[in-house]
Amino acid sequence: MNITILSLFPEILRGFFESSIMARAVERGLVSYTLTDIRDYATDKHRKCDDELFGGGPGMLMKPEPLSAALEAAGARQARVVYVSPGGRLFNQAYAGELAHEERLILLCGRYEGIDQRVIDTYVTDEVSIGDYVLSSGEVAAMVLVDAIYRLIPGVITGESLEEESFEGGLLEYPQYTRPALYDSMTVPDVLVSGHHANIARWRFKKRLEKTLLYRPDLLQGKGLEGDLRALIKELTEQGGE
Ligand code: ADE
Repeated sequence: MNITILSLFPEILRGFFESSIMARAVERGLVSYTLTDIRDYATDKHRKCDDELFGGGPGMLMKPEPLSAALEAAGARQARVVYVSPGGRLFNQAYAGELAHEERLILLCGRYEGIDQRVIDTYVTDEVSIGDYVLSSGEVAAMVLVDAIYRLIPGVITGESLEEESFEGGLLEYPQYTRPALYDSMTVPDVLVSGHHANIARWRFKKRLEKTLLYRPDLLQGKGLEGDLRALIKELTEQGGE
């Protein structure tokens, strides 16, 4: 996948691309990227990229001309262009999976009050929010998106790690433990050291359900829960325990 990010502060993003799993994906040719400074496309001597709002109101808006020049140079008319904004469609795991199939992604980071609507109308294919809160920096939202997307590209991380993590199958992840078996007077659930794979799988599934019921009951809605699963949920709801 080729990722281009257009930003007024590309240095915020550089460390992310140069570290850890992303750095390895780049090295192995699974991801390539370009970080573009939108200011390089401003034409006046002050390299101005923002201006006041028509109709009045607080704050400044990103001007259309530097943005459209940067987008044209990035080949935005032939790519999926994602504008990260609190006013966009809510991002989730399924959306990350959809974007992970793209050969090429262009991300546009907003600052100030956002960007001129005409740029959105001309170039943006996806306006995406990472949650119901407002960040001062679109770069942080862009990193969240890229992180959730690129790790789903085959070969970036092992398939097994992806299989049982939170949101796979629409449930949150089960609690996990590592050595030592006794830590600060706390032990590990017996079932996990029993070596009984079927019981471990059942315990984990039950814990996933329990956690989902507690924190994210909305994820269970409309799943058409059948037989076993329905009984297990009933048992968990009534007992509230193991
Ligand atoms: N920029 C500022 N807040 C944001 C949000 N919640 N999601 C995406 N981009 C943003």
